[in-house]
Amino acid sequence: MKNTFGNSLQITLFGESHGPYIGAVLDGLAPGLTVDENYIRELLARRRPAGVISTSRVEPDEFQIVSGYFNGKTTGSPLTILIPNVAKRSSDYEKAERIARPGHADYTASVKYHGFEDFRGGGHFSGRITAALVAAGAVVLPALKKKGIEISCEIKSVAGVKGSWEEMEDVIKAAAAEGNSVGGVLEAEIKGVPAGVGEPWFDSVESILAHAMYSIPAVKGVQFGIGFEGTTLKGSEYNDSLRNKDGKIVTTTNNNGGINGGITNGMPIVFSLAIKPTPSVYVKQESIDLKSGENRELQIEGRHDPAIIHRARVVVEAMSAIVMYDLLASRFGTDYFYED
Ligand SMILES: Cc1cc2nc3c(=O)[nH]c(=O)nc-3n(C[C@H](O)[C@H](O)[C@H](O)COP(=O)(O)O)c2cc1C
Repeated sequence: MKNTFGNSLQITLFGESHGPYIGAVLDGLAPGLTVDENYIRELLARRRPAGVISTSRVEPDEFQIVSGYFNGKTTGSPLTILIPNVAKRSSDYEKAERIARPGHADYTASVKYHGFEDFRGGGHFSGRITAALVAAGAVVLPALKKKGIEISCEIKSVAGVKGSWEEMEDVIKAAAAEGNSVGGVLEAEIKGVPAGVGEPWFDSVESILAHAMYSIPAVKGVQFGIGFEGTTLKGSEYNDSLRNKDGKIVTTTNNNGGINGGITNGMPIVFSLAIKPTPSVYVKQESIDLKSGENRELQIEGRHDPAIIHRARVVVEAMSAIVMYDLLASRFGTDYFYED
């Protein structure tokens, strides 16, 4: 029963989709970091649903920082962010039968938590919890920016369609009109990380980033650099040549995605993520009743995203920020980020 991740900086996520609050605790932050509440609001707004390509459950995300924060700065003690859930509609989940949504965590959660889980709206497994992750990322992102680190995440394709955002958005709209859902590919880039960060084996930068990314609901694939595509190349084509450019060691290509031997090489860290189609679709599906164990047909109600990909972008950026803060603090010490 573990909901905490990280070494020098640890994040704990708590809350359920239809509970009073969701939130995050960040433990291990340097003291004196400036917390920009408007920036937290800005990032939360990027995750918030908008229009027919998202769920109609729109939460205002009026967060509160209730510990580890004093006079606009971090204190160095655990920082707790609370975000109330106000746009709940739990009646969608109050039924005599409880039919598991295929592809969601309803069945696996009921096995692990013996039916005691708050299943409403996906409970602790809901994409809603990623709001807390985004708020936590927004606490550390300004500190990374001060160190020259820039994090971004772009949509590369939706349901196999590569093109302008309008073209990809049309694919989501078409799926939504059918009561169905689509997935896609995201590509993230972390620029400005110095060479020499990470560990050779179990705590390689790939391992830690992949661990973190697979924690994001609906992420079903992670690849670094050119990933699987690289398997078709010869070594001489794949290798990133090292050059000295005006006293800085760089590589001419970045097929390895900025990591060699688990350690950053100073080039941008690049990775792609497979985001699956949203499991809750309005198309009839076959499943089981979790109470009786009997086979049933499922017709989903409730409010759901026809695609997760556009909302997951900022979640990936926030998760990347938390990981990079942790890796840098592990490498250079907590005071690396200290501001007096
Ligand atoms: C931002 C975000 C929003 C999501 N919205 C929904 C949703 O509306 N309906 C749904 O069934 N799943 C949604 N999900 C995905 C589920 O939470 C996820 O598929 C489920 O917990 C099972 O985990 P897994 O897909 O990683 O195996 C969302 C995920 C994210 C990151």
